[in-house]
Amino acid sequence: MTKGASGFEEFYAGMYGERWPRLREALLLPKKHVAVVNPFSKYSFPEQAVRLTGLSFEHDVRDSFLPPEKTDSGYLNYYLLDAASILPVEALGLVPGEKVVDLCAAPGGKSLLCAFKLKNQGLLVSNDRSAARRARIHRIFDDYLPKTEQKNLTVTAHDASKWGLYQKSIYDKVLLDAPCSSERHVLEDPKELSLWAPGRTKAIAISQFAMLAAGLDIVKVGGTIVYSTCALSQLENDDIIRKLHQKRPGRFELIRPEFAFGEPTEFGWQVLPDTTGWGPFYLSVVRRLR
Ligand SMILES: C[S@@+](CC[C@H](N)C(=O)[O-])C[C@H]1O[C@@H](n2cnc3c(N)ncnc32)[C@H](O)[C@@H]1O
Repeated sequence: MTKGASGFEEFYAGMYGERWPRLREALLLPKKHVAVVNPFSKYSFPEQAVRLTGLSFEHDVRDSFLPPEKTDSGYLNYYLLDAASILPVEALGLVPGEKVVDLCAAPGGKSLLCAFKLKNQGLLVSNDRSAARRARIHRIFDDYLPKTEQKNLTVTAHDASKWGLYQKSIYDKVLLDAPCSSERHVLEDPKELSLWAPGRTKAIAISQFAMLAAGLDIVKVGGTIVYSTCALSQLENDDIIRKLHQKRPGRFELIRPEFAFGEPTEFGWQVLPDTTGWGPFYLSVVRRLR
């Protein structure tokens, strides 16, 4: 198969068919954001704030926001992210007291939302292999959370794909927001696009599967794993869950998430910007059975 920009077109047009031209156009539009309020900043949005159905965090939606700023509390007022990026945290259904690991946590947006949910009770392990990116997790925690609210938070530096060798059946919930092809960024960057090759998504999918398999080992029986990516390539989305069915039969069941925006897929849920203005984002929810 062809490499570079023409190979990219061929690959994704083959995957998304007639939808691809609209999807491609939507991927190149400026990104919208949701601002999630930091409960420790004592900031709130006005009554006329735009809310999205199904999000349990206080938030506002606009085409553009001023960068977050510190309130008198000393903490930043809100965290900006794509609405679809909130869905994996919603899907985890966290309650205070649970033991949670965010296997690929940096820069830390989803870990921050997990911390809001856990309310300093239980344990949140925010892991990332990159030292530079781990520094960003620490910075986000310090910018948004009082030190007294960070007692249940730990930042670690493991290779997520090998975690199952060291710990087993430990966590109530596992978030695997996996490194992925991030095609939106590839499409925006002519140099990245010229370097694109189909082997890349295949290689990434191999390491994503290894991390998900590790996740299944470290979550408790009855516990939940949320697998997510911002990839368009199905090799990194439903195909990863298909492979889990093939390689770990009987060890898990799928929980079918449903949200107010996006669409169901064979094994999960996908949010694409041509229909929703958000994403691309994919998630699948798995419960360990044995
Ligand atoms: C999609 S980003 C995570 C974004 C993050 N969940 C958030 O919401 O801010 C993927 C992260 O995985 C990390 N990573 C890549 N390979 C890893 C591995 N084998 N083990 C642990 N972390 C890894 C990267 O450094 C990167 O920060």
